Amino acid sequence: MNEPLSSMRVSYEHARLGDEDADRDPIAQFSSWFAEVLETHVGEANALILSTVGVDGVPSSRTVLMKQFDQRGFVFFTNYESQKGREIAANPHVAALFYWPSLQRQVRIGGIATRIGDDESDAYFQTRPCGSQIGAVVSPQSQEIPNRAWLEARFQQAKEALERGEKLKRPNHWGGFRIEPDSMEFWQGRPNRLHDRIGYRRGDEGSWSMHRLAP
Ligand SMILES: Cc1cc2nc3c(=O)[nH]c(=O)nc-3n(C[C@H](O)[C@H](O)[C@H](O)COP(=O)(O)O)c2cc1C
Repeated sequence: MNEPLSSMRVSYEHARLGDEDADRDPIAQFSSWFAEVLETHVGEANALILSTVGVDGVPSSRTVLMKQFDQRGFVFFTNYESQKGREIAANPHVAALFYWPSLQRQVRIGGIATRIGDDESDAYFQTRPCGSQIGAVVSPQSQEIPNRAWLEARFQQAKEALERGEKLKRPNHWGGFRIEPDSMEFWQGRPNRLHDRIGYRRGDEGSWSMHRLAP
């Protein structure tokens, strides 16, 4: 056993999530936790771990940034031809996870990812810094490339074209996905490993049911 690792232990004393505290609407509950974490989190509180499943049944995870959320779900932007983009096209079931150590909280989301409208992706693309726009255009995300110099040369070419006055449009291969949740779970660390877990499930008619889970 690795000694320092096996003795790493945190006592979770920060907060509680009582049945009476949790909102009956998980998006409202998310909204309230997200507002709190923005005040305490170091780094990107909107970073979520996104898991997709390949056609071979093998799952894979990576970090993406949530850029919008509302009653419809959670939006992130990416390359539609990347590994995740192709996997979602074949199987839209995804899992998403936020971990916020500053508040000893975790939020799990299960749902279906669908492409947002081109107009929504266009609108967001236009708000991105110029360098990020170029990056989205020139990077064949998830494909094997010869080396770093190859990528930088493509970036430079696109930058020079822009400087000559060419307009940069959102490429068709880049845009947003919205994760429409059908299950959510809020986890609050508590002492003695008796953590609070409140789960939500969406019924066929769209309303949410709420339940407490054993830690
Ligand atoms: C903090 C952080 C934020 C990231 N945000 C995004 C993002 O919003 N969109 C994206 O496509 N990749 C993002 N990435 C890179 C992805 O984790 C991943 O490397 C990339 O999307 C390729 O994944 P794939 O090959 O599984 O499709 C981020 C990585 C980190 C560490």
